[in-house]
Amino acid sequence: MSSEDDNKTRGAAGGAAGSAATERAEGTTTAVIIGGTGALGYGLAVRWAAAGVAVVIGSREAERAVEAAERIRQTVPGAEVEGLDNETAAKRARIVFLTVPFRAQSETLNNLRYALEPGQTLVDCTVPLAAAVGGKATRSLVVWQGSAAQQAAEMVPSGVAVVAALHTVGAPKLADPSAKLDEDVLICGDRKADKAPVATLIERIEGLRAVNAGPLEIARIVEQITPLLISINVRYKAHAGLKLSGLPDGDPWG
Ligand SMILES: NC(=O)c1ccc[n+]([C@@H]2O[C@H](COP(=O)([O-])OP(=O)(O)OC[C@H]3O[C@@H](n4cnc5c(N)ncnc54)[C@H](OP(=O)(O)O)[C@@H]3O)[C@@H](O)[C@H]2O)c1
Repeated sequence: MSSEDDNKTRGAAGGAAGSAATERAEGTTTAVIIGGTGALGYGLAVRWAAAGVAVVIGSREAERAVEAAERIRQTVPGAEVEGLDNETAAKRARIVFLTVPFRAQSETLNNLRYALEPGQTLVDCTVPLAAAVGGKATRSLVVWQGSAAQQAAEMVPSGVAVVAALHTVGAPKLADPSAKLDEDVLICGDRKADKAPVATLIERIEGLRAVNAGPLEIARIVEQITPLLISINVRYKAHAGLKLSGLPDGDPWG
């Protein structure tokens, strides 16, 4: 039997945290991005804002988040976006994306321990690149738990689900709204019910297809694809992403 549970209802995970119950009823409408002032978070914010998803940018300094939100409004007129300190931002929606450097992952999650509540899902996007501690971007660090995502799972409060995603989508292409995306996003997590709403949100970005990659422990493989892509992209001077062939149509989350 799979380690994934058999909950067949897309988006039916967890209990309520803040506006969570409303969000489940209405679909996933808001993305919180902790570290949203940085390259990946900002790129995601631009794309979600353009797709009509409400975005909450989190930062260690609220002013930086407000500035980033203003830049997004200039890029995407009419964007529904606000900037807040990380702890306040984390309470604003059920799904919270973590886009900070690996060296800052533990500290950030420690600071969020009283902000995150049961029923929320933390989507860990961090990659344990050696570059995070001054090494090469084409090498990765060994994480005792197996992956950065599994380390995150040890740190979040009880009842908060951890899903891993978005490791292979490059920030420069995301942040350029004129750049066409055509990539797959591998999603790892122990419950389909946690992954499905994350997939829905990711697929709001045109050109991204969410792929169910299996349980959270598979993140130890997925996180290694990033240094591989970096190595290829350096050689080709490109922004290549990941695209799987041969997957059938249909809902892998049901
Ligand atoms: N860049 C990419 O193309 C890409 C693609 C896939 C995955 N990733 C992964 O996503 C994560 C974020 O990457 P990124 O390139 O967006 O990182 P980044 O721009 O260097 O940093 C993102 C944000 O993290 C926050 N942060 C919190 N603690 C920090 C600390 N101690 N030192 C520095 N910044 C800190 C900063 O926000 P505040 O200062 O506002 O708090 C910063 O703007 C990384 O784990 C990376 O491996 C990146």
